[in-house]
Order: sequence, then structure tokens, then C-alpha cells
Amino acid sequence: MVLPPEHPLATGATASAPLIRAYRGDRPERLPVWFMRQAGRSLPEYRELRVGTRMLDACLTPELASEITLQPVRRHGVDAGIFFSDIVIPARLAGLEVEIVPGRGPVFANPIRTASDVLRLRPLDPDALAPIREAVARTVAELGATPLIGFAGAPFTLASYLIEGGPSKDQQRARSLMYSDPATWAALLNWCADISGEFLLAQVEAGASAVQLFDSWVGSLSERDYIRRVAPHSARVLSHLRGTDVPKVHFGLGASGFLSAMRAIGADAVGIDWRLPLDEAAARIPGVPLQGNIDPALLSAPWPTLRSHVVDVVERGRDAPAHVVNLGHGVPPATDPDVLTRIVELVHGL
Ligand code: CP3
Repeated sequence: MVLPPEHPLATGATASAPLIRAYRGDRPERLPVWFMRQAGRSLPEYRELRVGTRMLDACLTPELASEITLQPVRRHGVDAGIFFSDIVIPARLAGLEVEIVPGRGPVFANPIRTASDVLRLRPLDPDALAPIREAVARTVAELGATPLIGFAGAPFTLASYLIEGGPSKDQQRARSLMYSDPATWAALLNWCADISGEFLLAQVEAGASAVQLFDSWVGSLSERDYIRRVAPHSARVLSHLRGTDVPKVHFGLGASGFLSAMRAIGADAVGIDWRLPLDEAAARIPGVPLQGNIDPALLSAPWPTLRSHVVDVVERGRDAPAHVVNLGHGVPPATDPDVLTRIVELVHGL
């Protein structure tokens, strides 16, 4: 697919935004910054808007999803919006029963664990993605020159929730299936790749200017299992975007040991968690634009401590060809939102 002519990258509205230039390997005058989970519970205006609406229902109500996406952009002046949704939305739209249990995470009513469970999975009907397209189109119309980042969950992380039935400490059941029934494993990861791929494509077609693939739980894998049993499915997600030429970012937690494999799925930039200094990440994957990696734990530290940490992250990031400042994982719900605004001002002034 080529981008529609009214797409903000095609019209030029976002093509030279600092975020897009950085993802493409350039060093714009202003260092771009956004925060994973910037749309969410740290904002009082989010908590107010969510009263009485379940998480996934909010994601599927275009006016709400759009407004929540815009809230942190208005408040903090970040260089991008990230679409308010969830990695389990494509599974819900493909007919699975799933809820986000507050304080816990996604819970599936019927875990997928056997060959016959996988055989019953239906593909995602593109028409079911209408609320996603509408929410993205509304948001992009408001954002103007500020790019919207679309996202999806990578097959391993999504499949982990499906197999475990909910959040788990070390994805043990999922990793067992990888070896006990490799064919079922591969079929399930392909299904996850295709629903996440269609979810991403819908966001890009409706106006997202970049995408991020989240493989949050990939840190429970060895490099060997990642490369042989997971990475090909992650590459399959991005193959749904073939021809669109939007920058693609790949982020995993605890993936410091196999960054080049993370890059190799077809990513233009790699997100680094808080554990690995950016200069070391740059040495491991030379020539690759990096995103990260302010430690979320430091958001509650005294400002001088946090300030010098942010400056250190930016200085180490100079070893990479390009840098998009972010956290090493999501904004903790208890974060004082003024601290995030202050980081944006600091980074833009450096
Ligand atoms: O601002 C943004 O980053 C955009 C929105 C976004 C959400 N989820 C909204 C959300 C994004 C990008 C995600 C991705 C996501 N969802 C991931 C990958 C990123 C990561 O954090 O590692 C994962 C693993 C999920 C699954 C999920 N959804 C979890 C673990 C939780 C937290 C449960 C809890 O209560 O702590 C959710 C719920 C969720 N997704 C919330 C938000 C704002 C909180 C819902 C609420 O308001 O109650």
C-alpha cells in the first residue's frame, strides 16, 4: 500500500517534524521527546474523562480515544501523540472476550492453549477496525504538524496474555508451549501478527505518521529462542505496512542482550529500556536511531537528581546517529504530571 494523498506524511504536514526526522536518522535542531503511557492515569483530566467507562470501551469510542490521545500533547507540549488504545484491542475486535482489570492488566475469559483453541480463532474483519480509523482521523485533524504514533503489541507479548489468560511473572506457560507444541505456537503467533498488523495498518492509513511495536515481555526469552521462535512473527507484523514508508520503532523490556535482533525485524529505530546506557546501546547497534531511556523510577526523585539524569541520558544519546527522548518504560500512574512538562522544557532547551 502507498500512503493516501491526504496522509500527513504525504501532504508534508508532519514530514519534517523533529520526531520523524530523528526516526529517519537525522539530528533536528530540537531534540524530540514523548513518553510511553503519556495518555493515562497520571493526568487528572484523563481520570475524569474515564469515570464510568471501562478501559476497552473507552478505546473503542472514537471521541473519547481521540480526546485522551490529545490531552498529554496539549498539556506537556510533547513532540508526538501516541494513539490511546491497547495491545489487546485487535483480539477483542477479532471476537475474543477480554477486559482490562484495573491494577492488574488484560484478562482473557478463555485462554488459548491447544491446537483446537487456535483453530477456532477467526481473522480480524477489516470493518471491525472502523472505530480505530475514525479515532485516528479525528486526532490527526487536531494534531496538525505534530505526528501521531500508532502502535501494536508484538506477537510474543500478545500471545503471552492469550496463553496465560492474563498478566504473568515470567510467561512460563507461553514459553512452554513454544517447545511442547511448536506448530500450535507458530500458528498462534502468526494469528497475533496478522491482527496486530491489520490494527497498525488501519492506524497508518487513517493518518499515523510513525509506528511503535511493543514487545514488553520479550525479556523473559533467550536470544536464541527470540531469534528462532519469535522474531520472524514480529517481522510479519511490520510486513503488513510494506510500501507505506512510515518510520517503525521496536521496543522491548529487558532486550538489551539482543538489540540487533530486535532491529533486524525491519525497525528503523530501537527503544531502549532504563537498564542499558544509551552510549552502550549505540555501541551494540551502531548507526541505528535510538529512543529512550529515562528511568521511570526517577520521576519521583528530587528535581536536581532527575535533571542530571535527563542530561546524562541526552549526552549518552549523542553516540547514536539520532535520538528521541523517552522513558525506559511507561509513565507510572502516580507520576506528578508537572514533572513530565518540566522534562519536555528541559530537553527542548538543551
Ligand atoms: O500513552 C500511551 O502510551 C498510549 C496508550 C497505551 C495504553 N496501553 C493505554 C493503557 C499503550 C501504548 C498501551 C500498550 C500496552 N498495553 C502494552 C505495551 C506497553 C507496556 O506498557 O509495556 C501492554 C503490555 C499493555 C497491556 C496493558 N494494558 C497493561 C499491562 C495495562 C495496565 C493495567 C493496570 O491497571 O496497571 C493496561 C491498561 C492500560 N492501557 C491503561 C492505559 C492508559 C490503564 C487503564 C486505566 O486507566 O485503568
